[in-house]
Amino acid sequence: MAKRPIIKLPDPVLKTVSEPVETVDDDIRALLDDMLETMYDAPGIGLAAIQIGERKRLVTIDLSRDETPKHPHFFINPEIVWTSDEMATYEEGCLSIPEVFEEVERPAECRVRFLDRDGAECELHCDGLLATCIQHEIDHLNGVLFIDHISRLKRERVVKKFTKAKKLEATG
Ligand code: NI
Repeated sequence: MAKRPIIKLPDPVLKTVSEPVETVDDDIRALLDDMLETMYDAPGIGLAAIQIGERKRLVTIDLSRDETPKHPHFFINPEIVWTSDEMATYEEGCLSIPEVFEEVERPAECRVRFLDRDGAECELHCDGLLATCIQHEIDHLNGVLFIDHISRLKRERVVKKFTKAKKLEATG
């Protein structure tokens, strides 16, 4: 496993739509392991492959935070096949948009179809934080960030802040 750098706003790579994985092989499993290590190190509870620059439909999630044992979830080509009418609001953050937290409303429950690490087809019913997290990560696979769900005014303020910080970094 290797830790990889996380791509941050305003990098346009984050707007990429990721490609489905054709074959679940050792290369894909190695990439999932790198994602998990990068996510644990950050630390974060969810990561999409595009956040480390890989345009593949891969997601890692672990809601256990500092607790042991760990509960890693791996999702290959995840797809939401059902959402509840009931909505839930969580204060979301993102490893690609550090130190920004905003309330986002999403369906409270969802059902996700995906391939596991062995390439087997699975379905998982998600509620609570897991439902929010998987929807946030699948958004990443479609080039969508959580700030795309907040008001335009707030979003523009966030993007401006990160664009300015990037410029300062570039000019040293
Ligand atoms: Ni994110």
